[in-house]
Amino acid sequence: MKLNELETPCLVLDREKLIRNIAALHARLKRLGVNLRPHGKTAKNIDVVRLALAGQAGGITVSTLREAEYYFEHGIADIIYAVGVAPTKIERIAALIKRGARLSVILDSMAQARGLADGARKHHLVIPALIELDCDGHRSGVAPEDPLLVDIGRFLHTNRHTALEGVLTHAGASYNCRSIEAIRSLAAAERNTAVQCAETLRRNDLPCPTVSVGSTPTARFARDLSGITEVRAGVFIFYDLVMAGLEVCGIDDIALSVLASVIGHQEKKGWIITDAGWTALSRDRGTAAQAIDQGYGRVCDITGRPMNDWIVTGASQEHGIISGRSGGRAHGPQLKVGDLVRILPNHACATGAMHERYQVVDGVRDVVAVWPRVNGWQDWETMNGADRTLLQQVAERWIFEGWQMGRAAIVDELHAPDFVDHDPAGRPPDRNGFKQGMVELYSAFPDFRAEIADLAVDPDAQKVTVRWHGTGTHRGAFLGHPPTGRRIRFKGIEILHIRQGLITARWGEWDGLDILAQLNAPSP
Ligand SMILES: Cc1ncc(COP(=O)(O)O)c(C=O)c1O
Repeated sequence: MKLNELETPCLVLDREKLIRNIAALHARLKRLGVNLRPHGKTAKNIDVVRLALAGQAGGITVSTLREAEYYFEHGIADIIYAVGVAPTKIERIAALIKRGARLSVILDSMAQARGLADGARKHHLVIPALIELDCDGHRSGVAPEDPLLVDIGRFLHTNRHTALEGVLTHAGASYNCRSIEAIRSLAAAERNTAVQCAETLRRNDLPCPTVSVGSTPTARFARDLSGITEVRAGVFIFYDLVMAGLEVCGIDDIALSVLASVIGHQEKKGWIITDAGWTALSRDRGTAAQAIDQGYGRVCDITGRPMNDWIVTGASQEHGIISGRSGGRAHGPQLKVGDLVRILPNHACATGAMHERYQVVDGVRDVVAVWPRVNGWQDWETMNGADRTLLQQVAERWIFEGWQMGRAAIVDELHAPDFVDHDPAGRPPDRNGFKQGMVELYSAFPDFRAEIADLAVDPDAQKVTVRWHGTGTHRGAFLGHPPTGRRIRFKGIEILHIRQGLITARWGEWDGLDILAQLNAPSP
């Protein structure tokens, strides 16, 4: 397929530039004697991350558990989840570790360390953690001189359910640097913070096998990485206009662009209108504070060559406005309605996040592959599948143990404490009332046994509907009828509302008239 046959807007990835960018950083870090642990959050795609690993066995970094699950399923086991860990994430972290992932988390507080230990204990696991350090006041992390560093380290090392994996820092402030020299000194601060904190831990008899640093600008300009075991970088694979503004790359190195169609002109204003608004480009304005403001993106022709001084100066949801930088006119004769342009992104991660897939081009115009992205936090399809299975399992167990084996204890095990019976047949509408009904049924029909005729699961509503048939021999009083010894046929429909594996509500209809007719039928 050709680039000009694609529907716009769409995300285009130039594989040659991608491979070139990856090779350049690997070569640089090799010279500095340190491994690259690529950050999978920029690409969110296994093909790109495999290229970024460039054949090395090492691990990767991720920013969501969705990425961790996805990369693990594609064969990468060594993963740092590099966003401060929260208690709600521990279930999924534990599940990945049980499946064989060597997953580490990061944290910068005792509250997180304790929460991690509690969660890991519930799963009978040891979860490794790195202490996040603040090297530049940019975002999060323990300040290097804070005694908290050793406190957290000692807790992680001595608790039976955590392990101290090392230290990690990210010089995010490098994005705001004004010169290469400023990036170089931040790279030194990033390295020094990590190395000094590792030494502090070791001086306190604590292990620190991993000393991890990284951002694309500091990875590109660091001069000395001695004492560092790995560098994390993500944006370097694609680069973007922010990186070009920092002189971390050239405009020609940017591997990512948004393909857009010209949909109109505003002649008097000198505007060209395209179908790539902020839903295609993102709202990122990362170049606004740089020497050259690139608006919402730099405009290139279909081969990827910048056109004049044109940028996207305005972006609404599905419209982009192209004009000259500083409000100049953009209406040259070159572009007609239907013509295509490629827009370079301010921030590759942000623009990528607006798209479901990459159209991969080799050379100039041929689309050679389509690679998906794992955006978001949950794999809803699998989640739905998992939910569906759980709901079905609860309903089947309820029928099997409750209505085939007659185990009244199932009510305590499967009904939530605040269970509500919406059809209680005169009994209290709670767990006790429901159990009472079960005991009464089995004392009247000791061999009562129900079979599932139909079972429908609605994961969105968290409900299961069961249509059932049953039989039982009438051996005790039932609905005022003394035992008849008759074999009675039953049928009914139950709807169960199930949350987190427990039945919270039930609606049920029995064919009572049919039962009465069978009980009242004249003796043969
Ligand atoms: C913890 C962490 N490590 C590494 C990186 C990679 O940095 P960059 O995106 O500049 O390549 C990031 C990016 O946000 C990060 O948050």
